[in-house]
Amino acid sequence: MSTIEVNNLSKQYGDVQALDDVSFTIDDGEFVVLLGESGAGKSTLLRCLNGITEPTSGSVIIDGEEVDGPRDDVAMIFQQHYILEEMTAYSNALTGSLGRTGFFQSLLGRYPEEDKHEALRALETVGLLDEANQRTSSMSGGQQQRVGIARALVQQPNLLLADEPVASLDPASAEVVMRYIREAAAARNLSTIASLHQVNIAREFGERFLGMKDGKLVFDGDRDEFTVDTIDEIYGDIETDSIREEQRMEVEP
Ligand SMILES: Nc1ncnc2c1ncn2[C@@H]1O[C@H](COP(=O)(O)OP(=O)(O)O)[C@@H](O)[C@H]1O
Ligand SMILES: [Mg+2]
Repeated sequence: MSTIEVNNLSKQYGDVQALDDVSFTIDDGEFVVLLGESGAGKSTLLRCLNGITEPTSGSVIIDGEEVDGPRDDVAMIFQQHYILEEMTAYSNALTGSLGRTGFFQSLLGRYPEEDKHEALRALETVGLLDEANQRTSSMSGGQQQRVGIARALVQQPNLLLADEPVASLDPASAEVVMRYIREAAAARNLSTIASLHQVNIAREFGERFLGMKDGKLVFDGDRDEFTVDTIDEIYGDIETDSIREEQRMEVEP
């Protein structure tokens, strides 16, 4: 559980304004989908929330505390899963506890019982308990991504950030992975922000939507407000043509 305040956040890279005066608040347990074209500033925003990137100005406040570096209570899931392929799903999930256990203890394989229990519980959450002892190199992309989610959960975060977590998956696997992320967030009442570029998946899974364009926050609203016109504003006409077509087909028998 976590309350996040983003206040007038800006990030400049040379001439590029990656974030331009972005402000919003996220309450406990909200499931937020972040949308925008490539280059809109989604990753930069998530990295500022995670304390990996330092903003040029503005601030991120988590539970009343200003973020000034990476935090254990914020976990991140990436497009590339960065899991260790030679290790089992279980060992990979366990590495999520490194922040608590320490690197040398983990090298010696000395994890507290509580962490081992957490790793199994997280694998169960992502539907991989039966595969706990399987090497991740033999798993599908979707399963590997679920191992990445399990590892993030073992970190016992209050805030879960996911940067295009399903961008490299086929549509069916993307659905499955998004469902696990949403279920994991709901079961643990985790505040979650997931950036996505597939509008159809966003519409299916989002409860609240943030839309970015050229570093600016151009939309902040719930499912009812997230209309085709909104998507136009975020993306321009290309994406919406196919959605309008889809809706026409839904309406016309
Ligand atoms: N480390 C960096 N150095 C220079 N420019 C960057 C860096 N990171 C991002 N940018 C630029 O900032 C803008 C926003 O990038 P990014 O946050 O990655 O967008 P998105 O994730 O929405 O695709 C882009 O123009 C990108 O080229
Ligand atoms: Mg990005």
